[in-house]
Amino acid sequence: MSDFAPIVAPARQPQRASIGQPLKRREGVAKVTGSAVYAADNHPPGMLYAVMAVSTIANGRVSGLDVAAAKAHPGVVEVMTPANRPPLAKDPDDRDNPFMFRLDVLQNDRVRYANQPIAVVVAETFEAATEGAALLAPTYEAEPPQLDMNADAAAFVPDSVGPGAPTQAVVGDVEAGLAEASQRLDATYETPDQYHNPMEPHAIVAAWDGDRLVIDSPSQAMTIARGRLAGLFGIAADDIFIRSPFLGGGFGCKGAMMSPQVLGALAARLVNRPVKLVPTRAQMYGPLGHRGATRQTLRLGLDDAGRLTALSHHARTTSSVFDEFFEPAANISHTLYASPAISTSHDAVRVHTGTPMFMRGPGEASGSVALESAIDEAAHACGMDPLAFRLANYAEQEPISGKPFSSKRLYDCYAQAAERFGWAKRVLAPRSMRDENGLCVGWGLGTATFPVVMFEAEARAIIRADGTGVVETGAQDMGQGAWTALAQIAADSLALELDRTVFNAGASDLPDAGVAGGSGHTATVGNAIDAAGRDAIARLIDMAVDDADSPLHGVPAEQVVARWGRLQAGDDAARSESYADVLRRAGMAEVEGHGRGRADADVAERYAMHAHGAVFAEVKVDPDLGQIRVTRLVGAFAAGRVINPRMVESQFFGAMIWGLGFALHEKAETDPRSGRIMNADLAEYRVPVNADVAGIEALVIEEHDPHVNVLGIKGVGEIGVTGTVGAIANAVWHATGRRVRRFPIGIADMLDDDAATG
Ligand code: MOS
Repeated sequence: MSDFAPIVAPARQPQRASIGQPLKRREGVAKVTGSAVYAADNHPPGMLYAVMAVSTIANGRVSGLDVAAAKAHPGVVEVMTPANRPPLAKDPDDRDNPFMFRLDVLQNDRVRYANQPIAVVVAETFEAATEGAALLAPTYEAEPPQLDMNADAAAFVPDSVGPGAPTQAVVGDVEAGLAEASQRLDATYETPDQYHNPMEPHAIVAAWDGDRLVIDSPSQAMTIARGRLAGLFGIAADDIFIRSPFLGGGFGCKGAMMSPQVLGALAARLVNRPVKLVPTRAQMYGPLGHRGATRQTLRLGLDDAGRLTALSHHARTTSSVFDEFFEPAANISHTLYASPAISTSHDAVRVHTGTPMFMRGPGEASGSVALESAIDEAAHACGMDPLAFRLANYAEQEPISGKPFSSKRLYDCYAQAAERFGWAKRVLAPRSMRDENGLCVGWGLGTATFPVVMFEAEARAIIRADGTGVVETGAQDMGQGAWTALAQIAADSLALELDRTVFNAGASDLPDAGVAGGSGHTATVGNAIDAAGRDAIARLIDMAVDDADSPLHGVPAEQVVARWGRLQAGDDAARSESYADVLRRAGMAEVEGHGRGRADADVAERYAMHAHGAVFAEVKVDPDLGQIRVTRLVGAFAAGRVINPRMVESQFFGAMIWGLGFALHEKAETDPRSGRIMNADLAEYRVPVNADVAGIEALVIEEHDPHVNVLGIKGVGEIGVTGTVGAIANAVWHATGRRVRRFPIGIADMLDDDAATG
């Protein structure tokens, strides 16, 4: 690993020509014409179809399965149950790290949540497998499920929340701050279970060749997936080949290998033929992760000038009865508003659901809903405009740590979005604006923030004898535009035109691209690519300046610049030659560079690193019918260097629309008796459709951050959710005077007098 280029900034300023261009998706035509290959599109010769049978109870055990009936069905080849499931080298209930999830892969007859896999039917056709699964007619010994997160007696403090964050943090004396406050707010907010619902399910096509496994399956983290499968099957990671070029959405739930994918590989092993397993939409509500419900209590103290004297944020969350992921909802309060005293804490209740996991803005999304609502309530209590109130509590350094921010242009986000929105015309009192049709108009604001996250990634960059380049890394494109943005970085890293740079990604035999998650993919992989390209060029420069036949012979290497496929002595265009000439004279086919992207621990020690933004929302509420419409959303975001403004705007739009769904639509409805989810389909699990998004704008605020990483990239994938939900909730309050603290906000909240709590 010693041949990796250092991650410190280079002396030579590299060419930045593709970076910053609003290019269209390179794979866009392939996707809209159907030629892009997704996992379930693969049909290796001899492939069989697997269909899961899933539990209809949430707690208990399976007492009977009519395997004979299923096996007798024409076309059924095999039925996999705990009785004949191939052995695993590792207990699927073991877990070594916070990025690993416990699995339900037919290890026994226990049922721990509804929709848990209880058998897999393998058949010659999908229809036969589906019919065979229906013939299993399971019987159960059911026990009452524990589903109530308000069961205080069952609450406990987990060891950690999210991917291993501490459950508690304190700075200053919160009780003293509350005692001295002239205004106090104490409010509890609730968010529901939500499911990721990517368009593409966790499909898998698995094929064994002896102890080698080839799989096509969507993954946000191929190397982690490979390691997980290697551990379970007791084979070497190098003997597993994963292809994951395109994902039909991920949002966190494809960050780990989940039970249905492992079952697909197990079924293929059992029948010794390739197998395809595609969960149904309904089967995605259980074994494939979700955002657990939260109940969050905020206590705020305020002085006469509307400044916080104390901020306490306690989050109750849920997890499954068998695993450890807890939504870290309170941690958002570490960062956003200045307060001399802050305390955050979490507790949790185990319920009979599938295990919650990372879901777009895990922690920040649900936490900001409560914090931004509470801040708005506090502004009202102080008689202040919500923007003026936020500016009065602007954090000049990170409140919980006292560290300076590596960069923070939140002020500019507020200012530019407010200007664009027309915030100055807002009437302070709620329920005081009406449109020409008599609808109640409300304007609300939410602050957005998300931490700078980097995983670890590697890349390889090659300059070929014909002067073209190849850049390779195992990066996944889950629809966010990584294939385009990373290719732009690749071209610039080699100082080549984009069409002279081949960018290869999407398979596990390429250098490890880490995790497409935490909004950190472009930062991590982009910096690996940048370092690899610069490493390749540095090798080429060394060859040129050492070569007596080169016009660059004897020029100090640090004075040579690379530009459009040529090396040149500083500004002296007369002293230059092409990459191709250097390689041809040396008789070499190519020169190869390597690079790595990862967080710099020293920088993280010194700086608080976050992206910021502000979202303004206009809603209109029908005073008679209670219908809520979001008529305008204007966001402004400062997230470091922007690689592709078109892709970045699209990320902000997607996350803001997600925020709209969080505020007004999304909720998994669980039957309190059976534990089954009653709206496990895209008809009744509501997400926004086009008609729900009337007007949306996202302003990109230019931000130069010299600390976060060489390229200065923060991350854009998740932040848009965090400001939008609060902005809409606050706009609903401003329109109606109704402060709804239970999400999603619905028509009933607008009509039921008991719901008017503000
Ligand atoms: Mo994201 S929830 O880290 O895919």
